[in-house]
Amino acid sequence: MDTLEAVRRRRAIRAYDPTYHIDDAQVEALLHAARHAPSAFNIQHCRFVVVKDPELRRELRKVAWDQAQVTDASVLVVVCADVDAWKKNPARYFDGAPKEVQDQMAGMIHDYYSGREWVQRDETMRSAGLAAQTLMLAATAEGYQSCPMDGFDYDAVGKLINLPADHVVAMFVVIGRGTQEALPRVGALPDSEVIITDRFPAG
Ligand SMILES: Cc1cc2nc3c(=O)[nH]c(=O)nc-3n(C[C@H](O)[C@H](O)[C@H](O)COP(=O)(O)O)c2cc1C
Repeated sequence: MDTLEAVRRRRAIRAYDPTYHIDDAQVEALLHAARHAPSAFNIQHCRFVVVKDPELRRELRKVAWDQAQVTDASVLVVVCADVDAWKKNPARYFDGAPKEVQDQMAGMIHDYYSGREWVQRDETMRSAGLAAQTLMLAATAEGYQSCPMDGFDYDAVGKLINLPADHVVAMFVVIGRGTQEALPRVGALPDSEVIITDRFPAG
């Protein structure tokens, strides 16, 4: 499947065959694809929590508006991110590059993130969004259906997965064999509202 076809075919699917199994090697391949998503300064903020424990899936569903896909999809990934990744030995994000490059990049990371809490958080969300979409496109290319989700209680989810204090939950991505067609596409805003050339109209 070419990229544009995967982009068009990916839809948010909410009903899944609960008996359908995707094996670990395939899940790993999808996650490795997601890991090719870009991240600012190559910091790789994302942490992918693959929830395999059926009881934990049930608990997560309870705090996710009882949305069936949380338990019924073959795979549930809680896409998280480390807000403090920028200060955890950042030279390692350039491991394999010359030492002077590592030092230079570590210095740039320090200067860019230090004291800018909003940047620290925004960067994790940008990275997580790109990783989640890459994961869903990879799943589409492999013939699966998926759904991004943030309809859940973030604090409750954090507790259930032992989220470290310096991490955030960005969203869920579920993947599996869908059992219903995507809803018709509705409500598309006109290009004239969404695509802007050069500048927003003044005033
Ligand atoms: C950040 C985010 C959170 C979402 N949360 C949910 C959710 O909790 N439950 C759900 O069924 N769909 C959820 N969706 C899916 C959207 O409803 C869906 O992407 C949108 O209606 C467009 O449909 P499409 O993805 O099929 O094109 C979410 C999408 C995004 C991007």
